[in-house]
Amino acid sequence: MDGRLPVEEEVIKQPFPPGSLLMLFYPVAPPDVTPSGAVTVAASCRLARMDDPVTLRPVTEDDLSWLASLRDGPVATGPHEWHGWRDPRWERRQWAESGLLGDHGGTLVVLHGTDRVGTVDWRRVQTGPTAFNWAIGVGLAPEFRGRGYGSSAQRLLVRYLFAHTQVNRVEATTEITNVAEHRALEKAGFTREGILRGTTFRQGRWHDQAIYSVLRDEVKLEDSAAVDGEV
Ligand SMILES: CC(C)(COP(=O)(O)OP(=O)(O)OC[C@H]1O[C@@H](n2cnc3c(N)ncnc32)[C@H](O)[C@@H]1OP(=O)(O)O)[C@@H](O)C(=O)NCCC(=O)NCCS
Repeated sequence: MDGRLPVEEEVIKQPFPPGSLLMLFYPVAPPDVTPSGAVTVAASCRLARMDDPVTLRPVTEDDLSWLASLRDGPVATGPHEWHGWRDPRWERRQWAESGLLGDHGGTLVVLHGTDRVGTVDWRRVQTGPTAFNWAIGVGLAPEFRGRGYGSSAQRLLVRYLFAHTQVNRVEATTEITNVAEHRALEKAGFTREGILRGTTFRQGRWHDQAIYSVLRDEVKLEDSAAVDGEV
């Protein structure tokens, strides 16, 4: 060290207004390519807001087994998100190719302090010849549900997507009986738009979903601050 505080401590001491969007930088090795050719996505910075209990960061190789455990059965996924087992190597292959961060979507780890509490993801939904939305999803490990992390993580992801991409709309769909997610989305600033009938298949039958959205001009980004350039 050159006598300065670690960057993270410097950041926290700065008088950012409530709601500021911050990138917290950590002194870790730069992104690299492993001998197997996999891209190492260094978790060298995190996305955080001063009044949110969670932060977001890219998926690292060390996260991959944990990530698979989040999809391993109905207890892990929650009843509304259990759609049967899927090839666990799929995510590992995707990570090796792109770090789960591509032009058509991505996945970030949700952290509370140093605890990995779940993931958020987004994918592209084409809405016209030159227009697309992001559709987002969230999944928390069972022991971290019901603490406000789900709404916080989705609020952070929305700000991240509006800050880094030009989309006008972020949407989310969830089963009409997933009351915790309805509430979490509303707390994250989403508006309920209506019901999509018979859109998702689970447990032997089709289920209705509620659809929610938030538009670019409903989210204030001008408060955003970053340690090193725009977020
Ligand atoms: C859905 C999920 C993301 C919500 O995140 P969370 O951190 O648990 O939720 P939060 O604590 O942010 O908010 C939940 C809200 O719903 C309320 N809630 C939770 N379960 C509820 C229920 N069964 N009935 C009514 N309200 C309920 C809580 O009281 C809270 O509202 P409040 O803050 O006004 O009291 C999380 O529970 C999860 O990962 N579940 C499994 C995966 C899943 O269903 N993902 C969504 C896929 S679309």
